[in-house]
Amino acid sequence: MPRRLKDCHNVADMRDLARRRLPGPVFHYIDGAADDEATCRRNTAAFEDCDLVPNVLAGVETVDMSVTVMGQTLAMPLFCSPTALQRLFHHDGERAVARAAEKFGTMFGVSSLSTVSLAEIGALTRTPKMFQFYFHKDRGLNDAMVDRAKAAGLDVLALTVDTITGGNRERDLRTGFTTPPRLTPASLMSFAAHPSWAMNFLFGEPFELSELKGHLREGSNVSISVGAYFSTMLDPTMTWADADALRAKWAGPFCLKGVMSVADARRAVDIGATGIMVSNHGGRQLDGSRSPFDQIAEIADAVGDRIDVILDGGVRRGTHVLKALASGAKAVSGGRLYLYALAAAGQSGVERALSTFRTEIERDMRLMGVSRVADLNRDMLRRRHLS
Ligand code: FNR
Ligand code: LAC
Repeated sequence: MPRRLKDCHNVADMRDLARRRLPGPVFHYIDGAADDEATCRRNTAAFEDCDLVPNVLAGVETVDMSVTVMGQTLAMPLFCSPTALQRLFHHDGERAVARAAEKFGTMFGVSSLSTVSLAEIGALTRTPKMFQFYFHKDRGLNDAMVDRAKAAGLDVLALTVDTITGGNRERDLRTGFTTPPRLTPASLMSFAAHPSWAMNFLFGEPFELSELKGHLREGSNVSISVGAYFSTMLDPTMTWADADALRAKWAGPFCLKGVMSVADARRAVDIGATGIMVSNHGGRQLDGSRSPFDQIAEIADAVGDRIDVILDGGVRRGTHVLKALASGAKAVSGGRLYLYALAAAGQSGVERALSTFRTEIERDMRLMGVSRVADLNRDMLRRRHLS
């Protein structure tokens, strides 16, 4: 069990260190998923059911792992998916992740449930930034968020489409996790056992959902579970017409996050989306969903020539990135792959996580005999026949 950042050599090590550093309810909010968490496990296990077939004597002198996705040029084919409540994981929160993403020339996704304002994040770094949009019942809030994201100079808008209601997060039900965290006898014990975290939370910068606090009390001043937030604050009547109208209002690179079917991927093309994130929300919504890696080839074959297809979720190794790209993804993204690192050690933790991924991707490309991402293809993969 690693006790310091320098003992962390992969995502699993970061997870172990995060578990030591965080109060239980906060750790389980990150680590947990819906129902029996079968989809969350499968998201990563799916990569193990597919083998790489390398080519040798390819004389790989230099490796170029850069990609251009949704009009943004990234120095590596992996970016940070939008995740909520980051100042609950480390007091620097989104500031730490944005700066680490900039250092590695990749995109930073900012959640609608960010704990740092879009204005501040927009001014903080010069590398690509994605604003993840939750379609609320409050139309004034929706319009204000789009306007603020534009004013902050964010580059891509990602409409999350797999949260029509809250996933069944049983760990959060057991721990009583809410945003902001409620101080109960159970949680107080856990917070007290993590004095550094508790001191920051209680006496540091006040917790807030920066983009929502001017419109809603829930989440910033009134404690609410994430599942209940989805079920009461987000608009379940959202349709393709609403997505198309949002795309038109944004008038920039626009993607749908949470597309899993070929039919929906085709509809995303029809409304003029720039990209889709093939995703099941890290298994946190509909347990039993297929994993993005199991589904990516079918979607890439159907629409990959007309829209940027991103694989989101389950990625824990450089080889997972190469398998996704060889299957037809333009890039990959993930949440826990950097969140454990954030919780473990703030900006230096996220930098170490991204550095480890960059090193693994480069090593794995050399061992595969490829010098450019475009050289990866399906002939280099063999799916094991599942019995
Ligand atoms: C998320 N995710 C997420 N997605 C989104 O659209 N808006 C959000 O606010 C959040 N918040 C969030 C918090 C936490 C703690 C996690 C773990 C995830 C989902 C995220 O963007 C991404 O789809 C998944 O994390 C991908 O799965 P992996 O990479 O975590 O396995
Ligand atoms: C989650 C939400 C915030 O997965 O997207 O927790």
